[in-house]
Amino acid sequence: MQINYPRLLADLRRLATFGQAGSGVHRLSFTPEDREARHWLLQRMTEAGLDAQIDGIGNVYGQTKGVNKAVLIGSHTDSVPKGGWLDGALGVLYGLEVARARLEAGAQTDLGIDVISFADEEGTYRALAGSLSFCGHLSEADVEAAKNQQGKSLRKALNEAGYTGRPRATWDLSRDVAYLEGHIEQGPRLESEGKKIGVVTGIVGIRRVQVTCTGQADHAGTTPMHLRKDAGSALIKYCYDLMQRFDQVRSPDSVWNFGHVAFEPGAGNVVPSTARVLVEFRDPVEATLDRLQAEIQAAVATANGQRGVGVQATELIRISPAEMDANLAALIEAAARGRGAPTLRMPSGAGHDAMVLTRHVPTAMLFIPSIGGRSHDIAEDTDEADICLGIDVLADTVRALAERR
Ligand code: GLV
Ligand code: MN
Ligand code: MN
Repeated sequence: MQINYPRLLADLRRLATFGQAGSGVHRLSFTPEDREARHWLLQRMTEAGLDAQIDGIGNVYGQTKGVNKAVLIGSHTDSVPKGGWLDGALGVLYGLEVARARLEAGAQTDLGIDVISFADEEGTYRALAGSLSFCGHLSEADVEAAKNQQGKSLRKALNEAGYTGRPRATWDLSRDVAYLEGHIEQGPRLESEGKKIGVVTGIVGIRRVQVTCTGQADHAGTTPMHLRKDAGSALIKYCYDLMQRFDQVRSPDSVWNFGHVAFEPGAGNVVPSTARVLVEFRDPVEATLDRLQAEIQAAVATANGQRGVGVQATELIRISPAEMDANLAALIEAAARGRGAPTLRMPSGAGHDAMVLTRHVPTAMLFIPSIGGRSHDIAEDTDEADICLGIDVLADTVRALAERR
């Protein structure tokens, strides 16, 4: 199989035009630009000779025809707000190029390549929705319950996109022998340690909790301070208390983020009646996540009822830490060695669809360096030479898998 690097790079550049935002992309799940990108990808898969469709959750899934066994390669094509052009897109277009090159070479094996772009990995509505659906972990009730920050349901978004009523693709135990995901590192380690290929050992667990303070709207000029039920001030105080509590129980690997706050009604001259914050925290060890979450509850117990403001916490996301398949990781490592690429075994602090797939099928991930460690920002970038090296290592891993059978 002959990888066509200019074609891969051209596809990456083309995909980045959907929802282009400066040097990055703003391609939130199920927006017109995300749907156009999915449609373009569907066409590219079909042109490559894959049997491709968009399923009932928005996954774009292309299968090699006439084979009984396949390696599934993919990632996601949605982005965070004002995100980078490679996060997710790289892994999907790696899959497309490997499948295309393999079909062009007329590979003499019954092991095909299937390619997938999982819907809503970034969680505009529900993090990892596409891979959860693919693996049978997303019920219709989950689709109903999942909402974006504006309160729109995933169900409505799917209706608008025209995906409702289509069958949902699911993995096939008798067909899928492995899932491989190539991704940019999204952090600084490979670059700072002079390595070219990250061999992922496992992925951190992720939890997200919404904390809501409920008070009373009042005139911000006339209401004496001691009479206010100020949900905004209560939330700020809560967050400060929580940061100190987290610091007491964290592990060296723990991270947390107050990624979104909203005050209602949201005017300078109105005391906030409601205030909400999204608290996300991550760690490779479940017990540490439990400890952090216990602090969220303890801080709620302390804050609730003070100055007439009610405080409550609702868990939105709970994803367990995941291990990658050691045999597949060793194949990636050997493939990298074969290309003379220095490797680093490393955990992933970012979430990936691989963390869902690994519960069902042997799964592995490879990382390539991110310039300056930047990601989830339009500044995200990677050297073209590293992009090309990454697909070489991925393609060699697929060859080794085919030979092993
Ligand atoms: C995905 O990008 C995540 O780590 O949230
Ligand atoms: Mn991301
Ligand atoms: Mn990603």
